[in-house]
Amino acid sequence: MSQGMEVYDAQQRAEELHSLIRYHDYRYYALDDPEISDAEYDQLMRELRQIESEHPELISPDSPTQRVSGAPIEAFGVVQHRIPLLSLANAFNMADLEAWYARAVRLVDTDHFSMVCEPKIDGLAVALVYENGRFVQGATRGDGLRGENITPNLRTIRSIPDVVSAKKLPTSFEVRGEVYMSKQGFEKLNQELADKGERLFANPRNSAAGSLRQKNPRLTAKRPLNFWAYAVGWTEDGTELSGQWEALNWLKTLSFRVNPHIAQTDTLQDAERYYQQWVDRRHELDYEIDGMVVKIDDFELQRQLGVVGREPRWAIAYKFPPTQATTKLINIGVNVGRTGSLNPYAILEPVNIGGATVKLATMHNEDDIHRKDIRIGDTVVVHRAGEVIPQIVAPVISRRTGEEQPYVPPELCPSCGEPTVRLPGEAMRYCTNRACPAQAFRSLEHFVGVMDIEGLGERWSSALLRAGLVADPGDVYFLTKEKLLTLDRMGDKLAQNILDQIEKSKEGSLSRLLGALGIRHVGWEMAERLSARFGSIDTLASASVEELMSAGGIGPRIAESVYRFFHDERNLEIIEKLRKGGVRMEEEVKPPKEGPLTGQTFVITGTLSTFPRSRAEAIVEELGGDIGSSLTRKTDYLVVGDSPGSKLQQAERYGIKLLDEQTFLELLKQHSAV
Ligand code: IVH
Repeated sequence: MSQGMEVYDAQQRAEELHSLIRYHDYRYYALDDPEISDAEYDQLMRELRQIESEHPELISPDSPTQRVSGAPIEAFGVVQHRIPLLSLANAFNMADLEAWYARAVRLVDTDHFSMVCEPKIDGLAVALVYENGRFVQGATRGDGLRGENITPNLRTIRSIPDVVSAKKLPTSFEVRGEVYMSKQGFEKLNQELADKGERLFANPRNSAAGSLRQKNPRLTAKRPLNFWAYAVGWTEDGTELSGQWEALNWLKTLSFRVNPHIAQTDTLQDAERYYQQWVDRRHELDYEIDGMVVKIDDFELQRQLGVVGREPRWAIAYKFPPTQATTKLINIGVNVGRTGSLNPYAILEPVNIGGATVKLATMHNEDDIHRKDIRIGDTVVVHRAGEVIPQIVAPVISRRTGEEQPYVPPELCPSCGEPTVRLPGEAMRYCTNRACPAQAFRSLEHFVGVMDIEGLGERWSSALLRAGLVADPGDVYFLTKEKLLTLDRMGDKLAQNILDQIEKSKEGSLSRLLGALGIRHVGWEMAERLSARFGSIDTLASASVEELMSAGGIGPRIAESVYRFFHDERNLEIIEKLRKGGVRMEEEVKPPKEGPLTGQTFVITGTLSTFPRSRAEAIVEELGGDIGSSLTRKTDYLVVGDSPGSKLQQAERYGIKLLDEQTFLELLKQHSAV
C-alpha cells in the first residue's frame, strides 16, 4: 500500500472513531444507557490513540482524545469548575503501569515514589463546594471544565455532610469524590422498577447516574445513593496539605466517607500486589470497582509532573479485566430443576470475558426474560463476575435486525413431555409430573450431595436411575453390593466405598436430612431452624401451617411449602423408605449449656491465627453461646479472622457487631476460657 493511501485510510478511520466514540459518549453520559461494554469503549479509544500516535497530523482539537466526554445538560444550570476535574489515563497490564512509573521517575529525576492506591469506584465524579463549613454547591464533572449544578440532588445523599467542622477549617474548599449505588441497592431498585413495569437500569453506575440527574430531588432521595470522597479539589486559606494520603485523612476527620481499602505503597511491586489482591477480591465488595487508581502521594511532585491533555501524569487507572462483553444470543435452552422448575439458560456465541470463554449464561426465569425484552438472536450484554455463573444483563436494542424471536416458554416439559404450569405468585414455570426423569435425577443428585454420599455423584446417580435400581432417594438405602455391581464399570472397591458412605449418612443431623429432601424454599438456614424448632420429622410433618409459622423467621410462603411437602403421598413414601432404611429422623437433643455467653449467637468467619475455628466454636459453646453458620437477625457477633469473605459486608449491612480476633480472645479470656 502506498504511503498516501495509508494516511487516507487512517484519516477515514479516525473520523469514524470520532463519531462512534461521540455516539457512545452520548449513550453513556447523556442517556445513562450505554450500548457497548466499557472494555469495547476503551478499545475504540485505544485504536484512536494508536492512529493519532502514528499520524500526529490527524489530532484535531475536537478529537475525543483531547477532551473529557460529557457536555453538561443546560436544564440543571452550569457550574464552572475552579480547577478542572481531570480524567485518568488507563493501564491494562503491568507493563503499562511500569511504563507510567518509569516516565514519572524520569521526569522528576528521582529513584522512587510513595504512592496511594485507591479502589476505582464505578460511579460518577462530583465536586462539592463548602463555604464556612456548609455545603453550598455540588456539580457533576461534565466536560471537566463545566458541570451540571445538582446541589439539591446531592443534598439528599446522607453520607454527604451538610455541615463540617474542624479547628482550622479553610473558609472554603472543594471535595471531590464518587457518587455510587451499592450492588444491593441497585438490585432492589431494579426489582421495584420491574414491579412497576418500568425500564430497568443496566448496572449500578447507570442507575446512580440516572438517579442523580432526576429533575426532582425527591425522586433522588428515594434512591440508595452513597458517596466516597477521594480528593481535595482546592482550599482557600488554611490547611496546608502536603500529599494525597494526608488529604484523605483530613477528609476523614471532617467526617467524609473515605474508602477503607485505600493503601500507601512505597514500591511498584506493592502497588501491583495490591491490584492483584483486589482483582481477586473485588466481588466481595457491595459496590462496583473497575480498577485501582494509583496516585503519586506528594503534591509537590504532582505539581512538577503536571497534566497532559486532561490526564495527570501523576496518577493512573489500572483497570481490572472486564466483567462484561456483548455477544449473540443463539438460543434459549431449558433445564428442569429438582423441584420441576423450568430454568431457562442462554446459549451464546462464545465470548471472552476477563480471560474466560463464556458460552452459557443463566436467565433466571421467563418473567425476567420478558421484562428485559430479551429475544433469541439479540446481541446481548453478558456479565461475568468471579466464579459466579454468567448472567444476561440486557439486549442491545439498537443492534436489532428484525429477525429476532421472542422467547416462548415450553408448554410441555422438555424432559418428560408432560404439561407445564405456572402457579400464581411464582416467577417460575413447573413440570407437574412427579415421575419426570429430569426431576428424579436432579433430586437424587441434590440428595446425595447434601447427605455427603460423594461416591454417588452425577454419573452414578444417573446410572442408578437408568438401570431402575433407584427411583427416589429412599431407594438409596436399599442398595446392596450385588445391585451396584450390575452397573457397567462399577468395581468392588468403589461399590464398598459407596455403601460405607451411605451407611455413614444415616447418622447425619435432622437439618441435613431436611435440606437433602429438597423442600421448595427450604435452604440450609431454614432446615436448621426447622430442625431446632420441631426436633423430629414426625413432629414437623404433622405441624399445621399456623404451627409452622409460629416458629421464628418462618413466613407463610415457607410454611405453605413445608406443609404441602408433608401432605404429598409420594414424599411420605420416600420418608417411610428412609425410615425403614435406618436414616436418623430426630435431632439429638443437647441440653443447652448455661454460661456467661448464654443467649448470644456468634458466627466466625475467616481464619483465626490462635486456634482452628472448630476449637473457637467449641469454646463459645462451652460458655453457653450459640454458633451460627450464617448471619441472621439473631446473630449478635461476627468474629472476623483473616480473609473474611462476604460475611463481613453482610454484617456491616445488618449492623451486627464485629469482633476482631484480638477482641474475641479477650472476651474468652474474661471468662477464663483460654
Ligand atoms: S482521581 C486525577 N480517584 O475515575 C483525578 N478518580 O477516570 C482523577 N474515580 O472521573 C480522579 N474512583 O469518576 C480518582 N479513587 C479515585 C476514583 C476516581 C473513581 C473515577 C472518577 C474520575 C474517573 C477517572
